[in-house]
Amino acid sequence: MKFQSIQDAIKQEKGKVAIRGWVYRERKSNQFMFLVVRDSSNIIQCVLKKEKTDDKTWEAADKLLIESSVEVEGTIKEDKRAPTGYEIEISKLNIIHYAEPFPITKDQSVEFLADNRHLWLRSRKMTAILKIRSTVFGAIHEYFRENGFYEYQSPMFQSIQCEGGSTLFEVKYFQEKTYLAQTWQLYAEPAIFALEKIYTIAPSFRAEKSKTSRHLTEYWHAEMEVAWENFDEIIDHGEGLIKHIVKRVLEKNQEDLKILERDTKKLEPTIHKKFPRITYDEALKLLEKQGIKIPWGKDLRTVEEDKLSDLFDTPIAVTHYPKKVKAFYMKEEDKNPKVVRGVDFIAPEHYGEVIGGSERESDEKKIIQRLKEEGENIEEYKFYLDTRKYGSVPHGGFGMGIERVISWICGLDNIKDSIPFPRTPLRFKP
Ligand code: 4AD
Ligand code: MG
Repeated sequence: MKFQSIQDAIKQEKGKVAIRGWVYRERKSNQFMFLVVRDSSNIIQCVLKKEKTDDKTWEAADKLLIESSVEVEGTIKEDKRAPTGYEIEISKLNIIHYAEPFPITKDQSVEFLADNRHLWLRSRKMTAILKIRSTVFGAIHEYFRENGFYEYQSPMFQSIQCEGGSTLFEVKYFQEKTYLAQTWQLYAEPAIFALEKIYTIAPSFRAEKSKTSRHLTEYWHAEMEVAWENFDEIIDHGEGLIKHIVKRVLEKNQEDLKILERDTKKLEPTIHKKFPRITYDEALKLLEKQGIKIPWGKDLRTVEEDKLSDLFDTPIAVTHYPKKVKAFYMKEEDKNPKVVRGVDFIAPEHYGEVIGGSERESDEKKIIQRLKEEGENIEEYKFYLDTRKYGSVPHGGFGMGIERVISWICGLDNIKDSIPFPRTPLRFKP
């Protein structure tokens, strides 16, 4: 017989089926053996009846431990008591591999699960998250490709900082040193003169020493850069991208969201409502009404972002931050050079900044001045400054932290569960 997924077998509802997978639960008595089998699609209860089974098969099955791999043929029927409402009565059992006692059992510590991450990936929770993650990556590609963007790649070894020297990972590069990419940006801007609209999905590296539920040292970054578009159009893309991702997950991953016990009603407004766009100054006023007074010029911290997000049920775009809290490449606002055309998208429900972007400064002199203020060696930035010498055009872009978006969509407590093997200040193994 041809194997089918457990989900397809359940859909078939009755008759002969053949499935394969791993023993998820097992319970044995003198007369019956219940094996709950899982594959990537679902789980199903299978029953072996002693009276209908030869001794050899019965004895072989008796030795099965959790996570053993098996092939099962049998007859499926509805059974309200079974975990997914159906049961297969086994007529043929083929044992592919006897698992050793599986180290992961109930109620283990977070640390133990992290040490055994390679095994914990099989849990229903992680499987559901990984499926949603796959949808999110697919949706990002769809959004950009449907909107005329080319996929483009930057190097991961980079000689200069873009997002501040303090979070650079230094690597030995033969006899010299270089850094791991914090962002593709400085290597993306040169390419808009060739391709105009570009995007990427790539890892970014940040040596963030703080242990938080929002920071990884290696995360996946969806970035875009576009020529000719103005600040509002760049923000439109951020909003369009987030809407498209959430829409796709709600279409494709209802079962997974159920496993995660995610209240999907909280995600609906993101698809249907326009995201509020507020300036930094307006944000300060809103915070003041909440009893939080921040002196003008200070960056918004996590607590303040959370307070703001409490006021809305969709992501919000906060714009026009003070120049001195933002990166050197952000464009000064014409009417008010103390602020820049930079934007942070803050997710609802305390998931923080999911997108950071800006229109780019086009004036080479201003960029040089700000780099000098940061103590940078201008020589190293020569290739980047060339972008402002030969047909400079208005342009801009943003970066989206994919794990932050996944954490929010899945309703996770910690960003670590949004990526298969999280890298944090305290852990880079297994
Ligand atoms: O705000 P950031 O630093 O912006 C940039 O890197 C720009 N160069 C992007 C661009 O314009 N092309 O980072 C972008 C996003 C943040 O909004 C956040 O969602 C995510 O990347 N991010 C992290 N995610 C997980 N762990 C970390 N340590 C992160 N640091 C930033
Ligand atoms: Mg940022």
